[in-house]
Amino acid sequence: MNASPNGAILSAAGIHKRFGALVVLDDVDFAMGADEAVGIVGPNGAGKTTLLSVLSGAYPPSAGTIAFKGGDVTALPATQRCRLGLVRTHQVPKPFGGMTAFENVFVAASHGAGLGRDEAYEEALASLKLCGMLGVANRRAETLGLLDRKRLELARALAAKPTLLLLDEIGGGLTDGEAGELVETIRELRRRQIGIVWIEHIVHILLQVAERLICMDAGRIIADGDPQAVMADPQVIGAYLGGGPK
Ligand SMILES: Nc1ncnc2c1ncn2[C@@H]1O[C@H](COP(=O)(O)OP(=O)(O)OP(=O)(O)O)[C@@H](O)[C@H]1O
Ligand SMILES: [Mg+2]
Repeated sequence: MNASPNGAILSAAGIHKRFGALVVLDDVDFAMGADEAVGIVGPNGAGKTTLLSVLSGAYPPSAGTIAFKGGDVTALPATQRCRLGLVRTHQVPKPFGGMTAFENVFVAASHGAGLGRDEAYEEALASLKLCGMLGVANRRAETLGLLDRKRLELARALAAKPTLLLLDEIGGGLTDGEAGELVETIRELRRRQIGIVWIEHIVHILLQVAERLICMDAGRIIADGDPQAVMADPQVIGAYLGGGPK
């Protein structure tokens, strides 16, 4: 199958991922346009994070191909995909310990985006500001609480100057006010024409931004399309053991 359908900024075809005998991704096809905001939901263990890891280059797929901006990136390491503009956040934040929040974001701007020193400095400050983190910029990353570590993940990803941003559960545990701020930040990214793939269990936050929703279950995409239609899909409701996504 062609991994780069016309008009898609990112496309993945026939993706399988196994960890030993465990099949985690089972023949996933996915394609999206540059201007899309796509939400991904699915029960725990469905393979959502693994899909993001395969798309971003953290793991090679066991089979299948991935294209970004018209080129085959299947064999490219994550750092090179990042330079091309394909950037992810981690479900479990992974800041560099021993560095301040600012230094973490500066490294992303200089190494992730390849910016020179002055530009990286400005980009790092702008990203921290956008994520409401200027007040903790000089705190060491490991001393930050979970909420700020998640914000730092987002600030780092932004400083790498993404064209397409892959977000993995950045909204969990937020108060209503904090969730509102996060939605505003993501809307600002949309205004800047950054494409978004956002995995989130808290669907009412996701639906404020996503124009298209994908549901995964047991390593497969079981529904893909209009968010309301996906939420009402009996297979999606069934995947959540009758409860439906929240
Ligand atoms: N590095 C790994 N080695 C072995 N098994 C793994 C690895 N990463 C993930 N898995 C397994 O793959 C399956 C899918 O995990 P994944 O983290 O992709 O799910 P998820 O949909 O993101 O779940 P959650 O909503 O809980 O974050 C799980 O059974 C998990 O235990
Ligand atoms: Mg996950």
